[in-house]
Amino acid sequence: MEDSPWWRDAVVYEIYVRSFADASGDGVGDLAGIRSRLPYLAALGVDAIWLTPFYPSPMADGGYDVADYRDVDPLFGSLADFDALVADAHAHGLRLMVDIVPNHSSSAHPWFQKALAAPSGSEERDRYMFRDVTPSTGDGARQEPNNWVSVFGGPAWTQVADGQWYLHLFAPEQPDFNWRNPEVRQEFLDILRFWLDRGIDGFRIDVAMGLIKAPGLPDTDPGFGAKSPTWSRPEVHDIYRDWRRVLDSYPGVRAAVGEVWTDSAEDLALYVRPDELHQSFNFAWLEAPWSATAFRKVIDETLRAVPAPTWVLSNHDVVRHTTRYGEGAPDPSVGLARGHAALLAMLALPGSAYLYQGEELGLPEVKNLPPEARQDPIFFRSKGEVLGRDGCRVPIPWSGTAPPYGFGTGGSWLPQPVEWAGLTAERQAADPSSTLAFYRRALAARRSLRETLPDAMAWLEAPGDALFFSRGPLICAINCGTDPVRLPPHEQVLISSGLVDGQDLPPDTAAWLLTAE
Ligand code: NOJ
Repeated sequence: MEDSPWWRDAVVYEIYVRSFADASGDGVGDLAGIRSRLPYLAALGVDAIWLTPFYPSPMADGGYDVADYRDVDPLFGSLADFDALVADAHAHGLRLMVDIVPNHSSSAHPWFQKALAAPSGSEERDRYMFRDVTPSTGDGARQEPNNWVSVFGGPAWTQVADGQWYLHLFAPEQPDFNWRNPEVRQEFLDILRFWLDRGIDGFRIDVAMGLIKAPGLPDTDPGFGAKSPTWSRPEVHDIYRDWRRVLDSYPGVRAAVGEVWTDSAEDLALYVRPDELHQSFNFAWLEAPWSATAFRKVIDETLRAVPAPTWVLSNHDVVRHTTRYGEGAPDPSVGLARGHAALLAMLALPGSAYLYQGEELGLPEVKNLPPEARQDPIFFRSKGEVLGRDGCRVPIPWSGTAPPYGFGTGGSWLPQPVEWAGLTAERQAADPSSTLAFYRRALAARRSLRETLPDAMAWLEAPGDALFFSRGPLICAINCGTDPVRLPPHEQVLISSGLVDGQDLPPDTAAWLLTAE
């Protein structure tokens, strides 16, 4: 594949491996299942796929608890399956990115097991964040070394048999590495090379903003940014400079996208300086409510700060946007229409777009999963108070009229709703009015314009709660209000997310217009 900076305007499709396609018949998705569905992804029109972790893991957090960074869990296949997937993806014109999880390992990782067996102060313990509670660190009221809480709820510390505590910003089964230890740094450079040598095109970096903790591990004030003791510490950027050198030492263009949750586009921009990562997820877009003002603010702030931005509406950690956009609306079914409109806006913006499996089928969040089916540690750590992320991870309905809808032959690890009989890929492929058909048309339209669109966009005046912006010959119009708005002058409606008569844009609808520019 050529040496172009493909990532700049790539449409990347996230595959949550456990839930995409199951070839082995055990109810869990796998690499062979993905291989069998590559023609579907090529026909959809995406440029690249990102695979969530498939490494050996006890699955305390769906594989984000890695026990061996250089292998494939038998649940998902083998290294031979992985190599075959890389080759097949490339043969289908798809690039392949893998998830790397550097903030923490699994507690089953040999290094952590050795750390548990070794004494306090040992080299083995120094690869992780072990601490004592002393009279000077304990405040009497609490037992743990500091007041940090786990992202999944509860304290971020767990005590081991000899009385020391280890840090886990996520589940206790996910001990945080000590990134001030050179051995940890070296190990991850080697892991990057291991996968790059197998021909992958890039990495998605899990919790990219969390690797370095503030010296002394001071009690936290909530919030993000360089003042937080856990997130976006200035020294984290040195790590990505090292990683960039490795990526750049390989032939072709190997890219990295950071999972960076932050409260400002300026902080996000720090991760994508020319000698660091290529991209970072722009979660502000995903967090924006259905509102022209909110969308415009995110777009302005992003484009002001980030040279080659990304846009994302859904992933395996958040409520699916079809459902989010319907919340609080008089009729929740508008969520789907709004999702289609937001896709057109996202695909018209400069930069790269990330899609999450199933959004091309218009899948909603599954809210009524039975408690005994749930697996997300967030559900259990909150004692069921927070439903967690299983609802966006329900396996894909491919075909047929009854569960598991062609997902595999052995059921599905989370139950699929009966209503999904109407949402299978097979059924939607045959229906030009389906969400799948719309996604295919939108991605094809984006491809057809690719060479003609400049990097910059400009706002045009728009009435009401609508946004109009142009990029070269393209105008994107999106109506977030409750009344139809008059479209700006144009030659042709290239694609629209709802019925457009050529003059007016209905509510909850977007359109791409071509001008004679
Ligand atoms: C972010 C991942 O996307 C999420 O699924 C995981 O639970 C946490 N990082 C911890 O690895």
